[in-house]
Amino acid sequence: MADDDTPLPLDPERIRAEFPSFRQSELRDFAHFENAGGSYTCAPVLNRMRHYYWNTKVQPGHPFGPSQDAARAMDESYRRLALAMNLSPEWIQFGPSTSANTYTLAHAFEGWLKPGDAIIVTNQDHEANTGVWRKLVSRGVDVREWTMDRDSGHLDLAALDKLINAKVRLIAMPHASNIVGEINPVEDVTRRAQIFREIEVEIAALPGRQREAFLMRYWEEMDVAETAAAMGCSEGSVKTHCSRAVHALSRALKAKGITL
Ligand SMILES: Cc1ncc(COP(=O)(O)O)c(C=O)c1O
Repeated sequence: MADDDTPLPLDPERIRAEFPSFRQSELRDFAHFENAGGSYTCAPVLNRMRHYYWNTKVQPGHPFGPSQDAARAMDESYRRLALAMNLSPEWIQFGPSTSANTYTLAHAFEGWLKPGDAIIVTNQDHEANTGVWRKLVSRGVDVREWTMDRDSGHLDLAALDKLINAKVRLIAMPHASNIVGEINPVEDVTRRAQIFREIEVEIAALPGRQREAFLMRYWEEMDVAETAAAMGCSEGSVKTHCSRAVHALSRALKAKGITL
């Protein structure tokens, strides 16, 4: 077993013993279901924080002892977090708080969105993870809410299927929700989003007139007469373009193992 591995299965007694707070008598009969900022901190983290505040709270990476130690600790944190999340370290980004991080992310993302693009948010999220995305409505973004089942608290995939289409550029959802205490099937959601990405790729590969007719009819939801007027052709031609486009798309997607 590598140094960084935690022995499995997790032993609740051993884990609990790592949290000094739970040794306090006031917390003895207390069940605390939380994550993110509102949770108690375990001893290894407290020890590292103490070491940081006592010894290495200086600008990192300068040529003196504590500063070099601080830089090493930072590098180590990227490596360890990447390992815990099964990512490469370039994917790890630290920021001041979840609210500030999502604010920055939404601000960056906003430049890629145009009016009429859609995003999906959920009501199973903490405000810090959802508020910034919802505010994009003021930029003309169509914000769609994937709501929890009232009785179970689940985010059902069938409900997502009714919201997702090729106009959706982003799905902002919790992986682990501390509102209902469950882990969501992010892989299934990602797969659904990727199918729409594939559809976009195939639409881009259609001959120009077919693509135009298809997008107006099925994306812009224009009727046959409106599409014919916009394209300057007969309604019959619109129907032919659309039917060829649908056949070409379903053939191309089937070849990629996608059936709709
Ligand atoms: C799930 C979740 N996300 C985000 C936050 C808020 O994070 P921050 O204070 O870092 O903005 C909380 C606060 O407890 C939370 O429970």
